Amino acid sequence: MLLNWKKEYSVNVKEIDAQHKKLIEMINELYEIINNKNENLQKEFTRVVGELEEYKNYHFSTEEKYFHQFNYENTEDHIAKHIAFGKKIEEFKEHLSNPNENYPQICFDLLDYLEDWFFAHLIGDDKKYTKTFNENGLF
Ligand SMILES: [Fe+2]
Ligand SMILES: [Fe+2]
Repeated sequence: MLLNWKKEYSVNVKEIDAQHKKLIEMINELYEIINNKNENLQKEFTRVVGELEEYKNYHFSTEEKYFHQFNYENTEDHIAKHIAFGKKIEEFKEHLSNPNENYPQICFDLLDYLEDWFFAHLIGDDKKYTKTFNENGLF
């Protein structure tokens, strides 16, 4: 296991913490895939990227729904970061269509990106909306 959920990661909103825990699960899953030197790396990698795409759709729309609902002041900047994440996942998807791809390397690159994202975005950006969300009665 690479990451463990900690109290300090909480944004103090149950629904969103549950979704962030799901991201930790996916990061750990990818870590296991790499560590076990899984034989079918391409297949596993494709599955994880598919899960991430699904995840980003429902998770970002959850956060953005509340931004609009509560008139959150950092809405624009925050959504720009969600869009950048989506583009990055698209890039990883493109690698999947290349049969000569170095799968161990891109799996590792993806893991690296997700881990950075987790700390930079969840801790750096997501936690900033706690005050607004809580003030509007969302916990
Ligand atoms: Fe988030
Ligand atoms: Fe976010």
